[in-house]
Amino acid sequence: MRLTVNGRVHDLDPDPGLSLLELLRGRFALTGTKLVCGRGECGACTVQLDGDVVYSCLTLAVACDGANVVTVEGLATGGAEASLSPLQRAFIAKDAAQCGFCTPGLLVAAHTLLERNPGPTDDEIRAGMSGNLCRCGTYPKILAAIRAVAHGEFAGSAEAGSTDR
Ligand code: FES
Ligand code: FES
Repeated sequence: MRLTVNGRVHDLDPDPGLSLLELLRGRFALTGTKLVCGRGECGACTVQLDGDVVYSCLTLAVACDGANVVTVEGLATGGAEASLSPLQRAFIAKDAAQCGFCTPGLLVAAHTLLERNPGPTDDEIRAGMSGNLCRCGTYPKILAAIRAVAHGEFAGSAEAGSTDR
């Protein structure tokens, strides 16, 4: 099978029972994508698959032949803070993470939401993020971070939003 992950094309022959989550973490060391519930309840394993969000814990790797996958690592253009995406910088600036376990999935879900609807209302943000749970309960700050990006607050350099707490 052929799989594009964060822009890189890979030819693979995975075990038929391997999940996309196991492939991403085990084969590619993309450990931003988290295993929490493992049964489609929390969204910690959310990745983008051909433009849609999926729970990678419930997605068989072999079912993704020819697909394009984007993980949280693919949202940044490099490793430095200056290259983080506006959403990633907004989550930092708004303190939208406590333990951070839900954050990668939230970022991919929010990225997908804003690709489809760049100017969502608060209710549309809540609906778009409803498949991702945060056990630490940082929902107000998550909402504030996504709202800020939708309003263009983090469209500039990294420094522009770094002190906006
Ligand atoms: Fe996949 Fe919870 S780990 S939905
Ligand atoms: Fe801990 Fe969301 S920040 S689960």
